[in-house]
Amino acid sequence: MRINENILISSLTTMRLGGPARYVIEVEKPEEIPEAYNFAITNKLPVFVLGYGANTIGHDEGYNGVIIISRMKGIQEEETADGTKLTIMGGEYWDNIVDYACKKGLTGIEALSKIPGLAGAAPVQNIGAYGQEIANTLQSIEVYDTSTGTFRTLSHDDLGFSYRKSILNTTEKNRYFVISITSLLKKGQMPRPFYRSIETYISANNITDFSPQGIRSIVSAIRKDKLPDPMEKASAGSFFKNIYLTDSEAEAAESKGYPVYRGKDGNKINSGWFIEHAGFSGKLLHGIRVSDKASLVLINESAKSYNDLAEARAEIINKVYDIYGYWLEQEPIEIV
Ligand code: EPU
Repeated sequence: MRINENILISSLTTMRLGGPARYVIEVEKPEEIPEAYNFAITNKLPVFVLGYGANTIGHDEGYNGVIIISRMKGIQEEETADGTKLTIMGGEYWDNIVDYACKKGLTGIEALSKIPGLAGAAPVQNIGAYGQEIANTLQSIEVYDTSTGTFRTLSHDDLGFSYRKSILNTTEKNRYFVISITSLLKKGQMPRPFYRSIETYISANNITDFSPQGIRSIVSAIRKDKLPDPMEKASAGSFFKNIYLTDSEAEAAESKGYPVYRGKDGNKINSGWFIEHAGFSGKLLHGIRVSDKASLVLINESAKSYNDLAEARAEIINKVYDIYGYWLEQEPIEIV
């Protein structure tokens, strides 16, 4: 267990904002997790569990608490009658797992290629892209339960998954520390039709390989073209969530000419469309650039503080509300 003091949150998060965290503890084995929490209890400090920092924003005043990061690595594989079970330690880099699975011809997570982050964070916000989400293949997770001080297994059904949500970031927020995740993957291919942008890419490039590796290449190319690499440009992926609507809300939105997408998982409006049509694409607001290719993405070009980001965010949210009547919701979480 490594205990570091006064580490800048800007150095631990891809948006690169945020002052010093009092302590940062890196855990390398499950037994160290209770030790790390006990350290926080002894010092009367709160705990924040951080992953790769790709969906987390720090504040200027930093964090007077203990940030715990999983450095636990390893993948276990088990063949079962239903497919291949992969058990992945939470500190593994998510995209390495997708790469590993695709090379073995396993389908189920190939559309989640190139999502920045650690495996342990994947179930927390139920990562999703191009028609897949981790909830579709996840069977169970191993956790440390801070409320009882015990190690436990939580099943898929215990986790209460929905769009970008699970109990881990809602009703049971801060209760569990994810040790490992287990997904059941099968040999084969994703069913067609694929997500619209994949189909468009396939037609434009005459692609015929839809194996997990083929889809991984397509998704990687689409993301590379549209989304900034957080290692190159400070950002936190989609900064705003899409908007989910009931059937009557969807009808009202359609009658106003807004683009409602009626998917298997419900009716959605692309929040990026509002940002674009409100005139923000490519604009620089307080050092924050609204991406011209993916308007849901905010890039920290030259913001000096969290406050700059907060001002840029308020301008976007307020204008979209004034014109269209929808409040945009932020996707990344904040360390407070
Ligand atoms: N849509 C579908 N199915 C389709 C086509 C479009 O549901 O076949 C919906 C989308 O859900 C969205 C709209 O149509 O409401 C536009 O979709 P687009 O692919 O343009 O993506 P986006 O809204 O800009 C979302 C995710 C991305 C993810 C892409 C691709 C959010 C906030 N963002 O972006 O996730 O990579 O779809 O699936 O849900 C991230 O979370 O950081 C992120 C980049």
